[in-house]
Amino acid sequence: MRLHVADHPLVAHKLTVLRDERTASPTFRLLVDELVTLLAYEATREVRTEPTVIQTPVTQTTGIKLADPRPLVVPILRAGLGMLEGMTRLLPTAEVGFLGMQRDEETLEAITYANRLPDDLAGRQCFLLDPMLATGATLVAAIDFLFARGARDVTAVCLLAAPEGLKVLEDAVGDRGDVKVVVASVDERLNENAYIVPGLGDAGDRLYGVV
Ligand code: URA
Repeated sequence: MRLHVADHPLVAHKLTVLRDERTASPTFRLLVDELVTLLAYEATREVRTEPTVIQTPVTQTTGIKLADPRPLVVPILRAGLGMLEGMTRLLPTAEVGFLGMQRDEETLEAITYANRLPDDLAGRQCFLLDPMLATGATLVAAIDFLFARGARDVTAVCLLAAPEGLKVLEDAVGDRGDVKVVVASVDERLNENAYIVPGLGDAGDRLYGVV
């Protein structure tokens, strides 16, 4: 597993406002959107391309275009949905699949309650969106889901990660595939309720309210 922490003053500034408990949902949603676009720039550094010949007003030249098959972006519902627009803004031709996952608050294990994904993901670059990499259980389950359909190239885009979750992910992935994690910050630790510290609270609730 490879980890990339987006080290940029704009990322740090936006993240600080996100963390602030006084930031209400409308601003929170806007900031998540902006932050994800900045993270998407880093997350797509290795997006597959192929040469293409074009004619400029002056001459013919060879540039690049995104290769087929198109990348697949997969927000993990519910909170990952708040990251979708920010990601597809930079990857407008990507296909979008969905994974509905919830953590069992007692066992902290991930339960998959919905999925809408292509059956065959062999050779497909996949971008998973999940704001909080806490215990790692959800992301491991999501990556296993994609691996079971043949994917081997997965980039997880997260706002925050806990060191504990990163370790779980690293151990679970091993050398089964190429997994990259792009985050705005690796925080200190998890608390006794498996919340990230200092964190930003419950990302889903802060995006969409307590429903
Ligand atoms: N999920 C959240 O939304 N926040 C955390 O801190 C941990 C998991």
